[in-house]
Amino acid sequence: MFWVLTFGCVSIASTIYYFIFLKYKPLIIVTTGDHAHQILKSPEYSRCKPNKWLINTLSIVNPFTIDSQSLLTGFKNKVLTTLKKWCNDDNYEELVLTIGNRIDHRLSILQSNNSKFCLSKLVKQVTLDSFLSGILNVNANEDLLTELPDLIIHLWKNRDDKKAQDRRQELLIANKDNFSKSEFWQQIQTVLSNHSAIISQTATNDFNEKISNPLNIIVPGWETMWRVVFYSLLELLRHPELLKELRLQLNYPSKLHQKCSLLKWILKETLRLYPPTKNIYRTNLKTGQDVRINVQQIHRDKNVWGSDALDFRPDRFKENLTAEQEKCYLPFSISCPARHGFAYGFAGAIVAEILIRCPTFTIADGSSSLPTDQLLDMARDSYNDLLVIP
Ligand code: HEM
Repeated sequence: MFWVLTFGCVSIASTIYYFIFLKYKPLIIVTTGDHAHQILKSPEYSRCKPNKWLINTLSIVNPFTIDSQSLLTGFKNKVLTTLKKWCNDDNYEELVLTIGNRIDHRLSILQSNNSKFCLSKLVKQVTLDSFLSGILNVNANEDLLTELPDLIIHLWKNRDDKKAQDRRQELLIANKDNFSKSEFWQQIQTVLSNHSAIISQTATNDFNEKISNPLNIIVPGWETMWRVVFYSLLELLRHPELLKELRLQLNYPSKLHQKCSLLKWILKETLRLYPPTKNIYRTNLKTGQDVRINVQQIHRDKNVWGSDALDFRPDRFKENLTAEQEKCYLPFSISCPARHGFAYGFAGAIVAEILIRCPTFTIADGSSSLPTDQLLDMARDSYNDLLVIP
């Protein structure tokens, strides 16, 4: 009996020891630019394990959820070619016109009798509408445009909400014909279909529904973009002098938004203080070690950005960044295809065209307010009640 008990205790202790010291690896948090680059460049790390929930919740099968170098290259090449096209001056002018029309349409729906409107709704819906009609050439129905933004954000927090998942699918199915006419979406779908063997290994059920799910391109394009637009506008509401200066520079013809330096610095500073992807997750394929690159902390590090690191000061981008700052500026990680010109051109056009249509642009009486002496909150549902006078 004594031996059985002793043996049992030793065996439990060794199992605990095995899990605590050998198997369990506490998450590593990366807070320096050097270390972040080392991980982001290494083929030993994958982002698919931490993103796996996107497959079940949003039915997403793309390079964010499926480990395949060839899928990543094919997908990224199609995105790069399309986004590049919209940076060309003539096409950009057309894109700005589309964005302006979408803002007019949305403002007419969202403005109440006394003309104030909910800024968060306007930005989320206009960014989605502009991405769909401008880049994908898809005219989605009103239900999708008004419901999908909040549904995606809701599912980010409530990943198992089956009812919301079903509604998301219903909205997309109702727009199936609209999406099937989009050349860009067809190209992306072809890339996905060409990788069906590898995709089906990870995403086993409803495989066809996943491959034909437009969220595969909408989520990477929209989910980051609305936030840079929203936080830039929130900071402009908190900095009336800067807003005044920007308005003077926006007197250019609209097609020149992408050449307005101040607008670009504002977007850059917003992406520094409020990076939409505030953490980048990776797992080491060999050791199973999970890693979190804390982009937000790296972006706010006073040793890198100076004692005013926590101040919203766009003109820090007037001068060239130091080599250390360059390394520590990671809103697009190191490889997002929108990072060179498209993200600034597209987000800048939405910010500028909203401001052109809203000459007053101040917080309405009776609305919730913004903090005056601290950084803005970054939760996806923050400032949902903020009302603005156009
Ligand atoms: C302000 C706008 C944007 C921001 C802040 C942003 C941010 C990012 C970040 C942080 C990553 C790396 C994620 C990771 O490795 O886990 C990424 C990758 C990617 N993004 Fe963006 N993105 C933006 C716009 C877009 C747009 C408009 C598209 C496409 C329409 C897009 C497509 C992609 C793709 C395909 C990747 C994977 C690239 C790769 O890993 O080599 N992004 N983006």
